[in-house]
Amino acid sequence: MPATVVVGTQWGDEGKGKVVDLLAKEVQCVVRYQGGHNAGHTLVVDGESFKLQLIPSGVLYPHLTPIIGNGVVVDPLVLLREMDMLTARGVDVSKLRVSANAHLILPYHQMLDVVFERHLGKNKLGTTKRGIGPAYADKASRVGLRVQDLFDEEIFRAKLEVVLHEKNPLLAKVYNKIGYEVDELVKIYVGECAPRLKKHMADTIDLVHNVLENDGQVLFEGAQATFLDLDHGTYPFVTSSNPTAGGACTGAGVGPRYIDRVVGVAKAYLTRVGAGPFPSELFDAVGEHLVDVGHEYGTNTGRRRRTGWVDAVMLRHAVRVNSLSEIALTKLDVLDQLDTVKICEAYDVNGVRHEKMPYHQSDFHDAKPIYKEMPGWKTDLSGFTKRGQLPQAALDYLDALEASIGVPIGLIGVGPGRNQIVHYNQAA
Ligand code: GDP
Ligand code: IMO
Ligand code: MG
Repeated sequence: MPATVVVGTQWGDEGKGKVVDLLAKEVQCVVRYQGGHNAGHTLVVDGESFKLQLIPSGVLYPHLTPIIGNGVVVDPLVLLREMDMLTARGVDVSKLRVSANAHLILPYHQMLDVVFERHLGKNKLGTTKRGIGPAYADKASRVGLRVQDLFDEEIFRAKLEVVLHEKNPLLAKVYNKIGYEVDELVKIYVGECAPRLKKHMADTIDLVHNVLENDGQVLFEGAQATFLDLDHGTYPFVTSSNPTAGGACTGAGVGPRYIDRVVGVAKAYLTRVGAGPFPSELFDAVGEHLVDVGHEYGTNTGRRRRTGWVDAVMLRHAVRVNSLSEIALTKLDVLDQLDTVKICEAYDVNGVRHEKMPYHQSDFHDAKPIYKEMPGWKTDLSGFTKRGQLPQAALDYLDALEASIGVPIGLIGVGPGRNQIVHYNQAA
C-alpha cells in the first residue's frame, strides 16, 4: 500500500491532525500538499497538546521525513516560529524538508487579505486573514515568489520590484495603506530567514519518489476540506487551493496510480468557521452543547465554530470527489450526552427531495435538511477502544451513517488523545 491521502470531508477541523498522527506510525514520510498556515491541526500525545499550522502532523515521530510540498504556500516567518516552538518542546525538526517550488506568503499578501475582507463588509468570506488567497492568486498570475528565490538576492529583489510596482499603488490608492520597501523585505527574508531555511529546502518530488520507488509508504496530509476546495467547495466561501484528494497529486508531484487509499475524516456532527451556506446548522441549545463539549473554537484564530448535525448528502459527495475508501469518524464522544442524534439524509429544496448535492449554489443555499432521528446512547465512550464495547444505540447510529454514506467507517475518535480511538473495522 504505497500512498494514502487523508482528506477533510466537511468544512475543516474534522481532526485530520489526529488521524494523520495515528497513521504516520507506519510511513516513511508525511507530506502537506496544499494550503498554508490557515490550517490548525491538533495532536494530543500523553496529555500534551501540539497545534501545527504548516509542519506536517507526522513530525512527532523521529523515524519519518516531514515534507512541505510544492502545492503549499509558505510564510517563512511562521514556519521558523513553528520550528522554534517544536524545538523548544523537544521535537527534532532537523528532517523537515520544504519544496523549493512552494510559493511564499509575503506581508503584502496578508495585508491584501485583511483589506479585501474589510472592503467586502457584510459579504466577507471570513478568511483566516493569513494571506492565503492573495498568495495563490499571485501564483496563478505568475508573479509569485518561491522558496528557492529566498536564496538568490538578485532574483528575489528583481521579482519583488515587479510585484511591488503593482501592489504598492493598489494598497495606497485603493485601500489607503502604506506599501512595502524592497530593501526592508530583502533584509528580513533573504537576510534573516534564508540562512535558517537553507538546509531544509529540497527537491521534495525526488524525496517522495525515492520512498515510493523503494516500496516505502507515503502519507499525504490534507488541510482544510472538501467543501472548502476551490473547485468542489461552496464557492466563493472556500479557500484558494485544492484540498480534495486529487490535490495531493499536483501539490506533491505524484501521479494518481500511487494512491491506493483515501481516508476521509468526518466529525460525527458538523462545524464551519467563516461565512457560507450550512443546511444542517443548529441555532438552539444542542448547537451550543456541541460548541461547549466539542470545544469548537478555531485552533489558530480562536473563532467560535458554527455547529450542526452530520450531513450525509455532503459526505456522499465527498466520497465521489475524493474516491474515499473509508471514513475516519471523529468526536463521536461529543454526542455522548444527547437524548437524540440526527443524520441529515437528504435536502428539501423548494419542495423537491434531493439525495445528491445540488450543483446550483442557490439550491444549496435554500436546502432544508431532512433528518433521520435516532435515540442517543447516553454513555461515556471516551475510554472505549473496541467495537464490542460500544452500546447498541451507538452501533445503530454508526450503521445508519455508514449505510447512508456508502463506504465503511474504519476508525472512530472518542477523545482527543492519540489512543482514544476505536478500530471499528476490527471484530470485537
Ligand atoms: P484538523 O484541522 O482537522 O486537524 O482539526 P483541529 O485540530 O482543528 O480540530 C479538531 C479538534 O478536535 C482538536 O482540538 C482535536 O484535539 C480534537 N479531537 C480530534 N479527535 C477527537 C475526538 O475523537 N474526540 C474529541 N473529543 N476531540 C477530538
Ligand atoms: P484545517 O486544516 C476550518 C476557512 C476560513 C474561511 C475560508 C477561507 O485546520 O481544517 P482562507 O484563509 O483559507 O482564505 O479562508 O476557509 N478555513 C478553514 N476552516 N479549518 C481550516 O483548516 C481552514 N482553513 C481555512 O475560515 O471560511
Ligand atoms: Mg483545524
